[in-house]
Amino acid sequence: VTKRVLITGSGSGIGKATAARYARQGWRVLVSDVDEAAAETVAKELDASFVRLDVTEDATWLAALDWCKREWDGLDVLINNAGVAGGGRFEQIDLADWEWILNINLKGVVRGCRMFVPLFKEQRSGHIVNVASLAGIMNLPAMASYNVTKAGVISLSETLRYELEPYGIHTTVVCPAYVKTNIAAGMRSPDPGAVSITEKLMASSKITADDVADQIFDAVRDKRFLLLTHPDGRKSARLKRFLPKLVDRQIAQYWSRFRHTLEQQGRS
Ligand SMILES: NC(=O)c1ccc[n+]([C@@H]2O[C@H](COP(=O)([O-])OP(=O)(O)OC[C@H]3O[C@@H](n4cnc5c(N)ncnc54)[C@H](O)[C@@H]3O)[C@@H](O)[C@H]2O)c1
Repeated sequence: VTKRVLITGSGSGIGKATAARYARQGWRVLVSDVDEAAAETVAKELDASFVRLDVTEDATWLAALDWCKREWDGLDVLINNAGVAGGGRFEQIDLADWEWILNINLKGVVRGCRMFVPLFKEQRSGHIVNVASLAGIMNLPAMASYNVTKAGVISLSETLRYELEPYGIHTTVVCPAYVKTNIAAGMRSPDPGAVSITEKLMASSKITADDVADQIFDAVRDKRFLLLTHPDGRKSARLKRFLPKLVDRQIAQYWSRFRHTLEQQGRS
């Protein structure tokens, strides 16, 4: 039987590339995004289906679940990919922006898992893929809100992995470093310097959204839990574990350069 995948935020970037990867492999793909027109365009390109799904709205999650039950009689893989970016020095980030990013990046994943876990338990099969970030492991300065959402997604994924494994449900958490996508366009930051640095780092990345998509496809096939998509990211995560003092020094150096840029361009 043809396998079925639902991907949130697949109107753009990593989600769109992942939808294309699964479609190429002959899977049935449900493209979803808060931007319905973007989802529709991607779905047409891939000869796939689409729904409008805002990960912050329970009603649209319920509609997506009903769609999967009605049209597909279930689901094999749920990819919680939708996300937004936030940056800036800690004391400059408004509480409203904390609510905004937590609601999409962290609670959006919580909502998706809450909606689909009962179905997966009933099926006694299913695979949850949560797109976190290397940011949730490295916790670099001037990205507090983003880091917290991604560390939360990693923690949730690890918990679900243990909890759901006996029911035949697998979990993968994806931790990419920078990838060139549209995410900087919607980035919220009180420090304009944080956005331009992000754009520069994204532009210089050698790993593309298509590379990440290929790696997600393989990790799901192989039932791998932690996916660090970038060679540099794997190295950083390993160094942090085994040579933490070296990483402390590297981050201090990074921050001593970046801090001045932010202070010159920012509000204070
Ligand atoms: N690009 C990177 O450098 C990078 C690095 C690590 C992790 N990530 C993560 O990858 C994921 C995908 O991001 P991307 O870089 O492809 O960005 P992107 O902006 O190109 O795509 C994200 C998509 O999510 C959608 N979206 C935003 N809010 C939504 C909501 N409330 N409900 C449903 N959809 C919503 C957007 O409309 C967009 O189509 C995010 O979780 C991001 O944090 C990205």
